[in-house]
Amino acid sequence: MQISVIGCGYVGLVTGTCLAELGHHVVCTDNDPERIASLKASVVPIYEPYLDAMLGANCQAKRLSFTSDAGEAVRAGEVIFICVGTPPLETGDADLSAIDNVARLIATESVTPKLVVEKSTVPAQTGQQLKRALGVYSGKAGAEFRVASNPEFLREGTAVEDFLHPDRIVLRVEDDASEKQLREIYRPVLEGRFRCPVHMGACPSMQPPKLVVTTINSAELIKHASNSFLAVKISYANMIADLCEKVSADINEVTRAMGLDPRIGPRFLEAGLGFGGFCLPKDVQAFIRLAERAGVDFSMLKEAERVNKRRIDVFLEKIRRALWVVKDKQVGVLGLAFKANTDDIRFAPSLEVIRRLLAEGAQVRAYDQEAMDKTSVIFPQIQCCREPYEVARDVDALLILTEWEEFRQLDWERIHGLMARPLVVDGRNLLEPKAMMERGFEYYGFGQGEEAVAAEFVPTLVPRFSAEGASA
Ligand code: UGA
Repeated sequence: MQISVIGCGYVGLVTGTCLAELGHHVVCTDNDPERIASLKASVVPIYEPYLDAMLGANCQAKRLSFTSDAGEAVRAGEVIFICVGTPPLETGDADLSAIDNVARLIATESVTPKLVVEKSTVPAQTGQQLKRALGVYSGKAGAEFRVASNPEFLREGTAVEDFLHPDRIVLRVEDDASEKQLREIYRPVLEGRFRCPVHMGACPSMQPPKLVVTTINSAELIKHASNSFLAVKISYANMIADLCEKVSADINEVTRAMGLDPRIGPRFLEAGLGFGGFCLPKDVQAFIRLAERAGVDFSMLKEAERVNKRRIDVFLEKIRRALWVVKDKQVGVLGLAFKANTDDIRFAPSLEVIRRLLAEGAQVRAYDQEAMDKTSVIFPQIQCCREPYEVARDVDALLILTEWEEFRQLDWERIHGLMARPLVVDGRNLLEPKAMMERGFEYYGFGQGEEAVAAEFVPTLVPRFSAEGASA
């Protein structure tokens, strides 16, 4: 199948590369010429496990190519996937101007019939508008457009695996021909017949994905409804964590037992700093706005959003309680990305935490294995370190803001010896409280019977200056 992908962000790059991996011929385009130039040289501008190698291999095999000539990309594909961004407007609504621009582009450049597939996350009824726009902008004979919706459910950090081994593929099509084309595109995934680069061909026994064919408004709603549900689940777990602190219960014990009920499920119940990234926060907002415009007061979602914003306050309060005065304190930050296995810092909780610490007069130094360059552009005043132990040296507190596995594996005894005060505030409940306290740390997480922990702890304060060196 000849496929075009418009938009080379996270979704477009993963979609284009994985479709090529499945054997299709894919041309990708983007309106950022620098991005295309770097992709042509097989330099992937984002960190996403497996993507680099797959992209290089498929370019070499001539199944995948990149062009900054958007018209050429449009003309090349019998099926065109729209993967452009739909960022939030100030009102919370999704900004659909990029979709509108792509509709104009496709309509004016096409000379043959096209199946146009919206993959970007869009509010319900966008497909109808897209279909209308393609008709309005189109002038050329031979150009006929069918519109389909195929929302993506990719998580950053596991996007390649999610694409190749999805739980479900949701399609909305106008006619049998479109359904046939899309089924053909996904056939290797639906039948599990491809050499999986994630599991080196030997995939663990996985259920084949469910193919769900719906009406267009439902297809669009499924995506927003799914992301919003995940957001509600996280906020719910976070409220339970707050309650656990008050009644000296343990959030991990509570959510582990809750999750054993298959009606609840164990995932997305991890308490901490809350949800960030470019999807959940914006999709919750867009869903609230969509409901408002439809005359439905989705107050439950507004509350989930409010709870999420409060997580930063709760975290900062823990830091203040432990440090007493934040001004002039040295604070080390481990983790900047909005979650592990990505370099993405968009709407990352770390940004707000750092912004507030700096505003309160703390000195911040940080480490993240992937997200450092992007963060130092936003905060040139923080010291970026090459490794975690450098962050720990002489700090009054160490904060964990991303659940990178690397941080769990650190030599915490060594870190204890490096810190001015062995205080760890864990925004992701990554570490074992008991083990940390046995190593001599003052440790705070979320929902781990914190009041009791704090009362028992007698901090060992290591003086930063020797008595002779200190001035009166
Ligand atoms: C999310 C959805 O999970 C994907 O299914 C969807 O396709 C994607 O958005 C999208 O719309 O494109 P993603 O943004 O990559 O994926 O990240 P998630 O894994 O959903 O995590 C979102 C945030 O929630 C992160 O900040 C994470 O740290 C936080 N989180 C997640 C928690 O605080 N607790 C949890 O239990 C789980």
